[in-house]
Amino acid sequence: MSRRRRIYDGKAKTMFEGPEPGTLIQYFKDDATAFNAQKREILSGKGVLNNRISAYLMTKLAEIGVPTAFMRRLNMREQLVREVEIIPIEVVIRNISAGSFTKRFAVPEGTPLERSVIEYFYKKDELGDPMVSEEHITAFKWATPHELDEMVALTVRVNDFLTGLFLGIGIKLVDFKLEFGRIWIDDEMHIVLADEISPDNCRLWDLKTNEKLDKDRFRQDLGNVVESYSEVARRLGIMPEEGLNEGPTLVSGE
Ligand code: TMP
Repeated sequence: MSRRRRIYDGKAKTMFEGPEPGTLIQYFKDDATAFNAQKREILSGKGVLNNRISAYLMTKLAEIGVPTAFMRRLNMREQLVREVEIIPIEVVIRNISAGSFTKRFAVPEGTPLERSVIEYFYKKDELGDPMVSEEHITAFKWATPHELDEMVALTVRVNDFLTGLFLGIGIKLVDFKLEFGRIWIDDEMHIVLADEISPDNCRLWDLKTNEKLDKDRFRQDLGNVVESYSEVARRLGIMPEEGLNEGPTLVSGE
């Protein structure tokens, strides 16, 4: 096993130096955290499932022309991605009221929103990822107005596409969070979709029963977290056959 340089250790993923300049290896851990990491648990097999699910969804999005940092899945827990400069904003888009939206605006969980609502959160653990406005984003220069326009346009496109994709497998896409990054190609800057799209950062409800098939099962102690993620993978037709706990144990160099 080769020793790779660790670039960044996140809550659910670790980034390692990639095989070529401008690439990184994104390693999916089994760690689950919620409420700014106050609640933590190891959910055996979650990383394998999120790696598969995110690789599949990013590939589908690339097929419709959405630029992404994803290049290819390497193995059970790792994918090769383009190195990007992460924009420190979480873009959340909501189709149905749930989570913090229900509390902030007293809209009961499950209420369909007449039009999708986009919200921004500043990625800063020390501040608890506060909700921010476009004015904050541009005034603090986290992104330019042009970049923000691009992020919103991409978010709406991803929402339209994924809503249909999930509906096709009997799942409501309630809301989700996206992150974006900058890459430079021939001195030109591009905004691309980064991070992951998985049940860790989407709310997914069964179309008929409204059963939760996402990280709310962990946040709300509903149990069967990995089973629900497996159900999403199964419906997408990408359930790993090898078993969830296999794959390389990565040896990292400090
Ligand atoms: P919220 O209702 O808790 O604000 O979450 C909205 C969406 O964003 C939901 O699909 C879960 C996702 N999310 C993340 O991916 N990371 C986070 O840190 C939080 C708080 C939410």
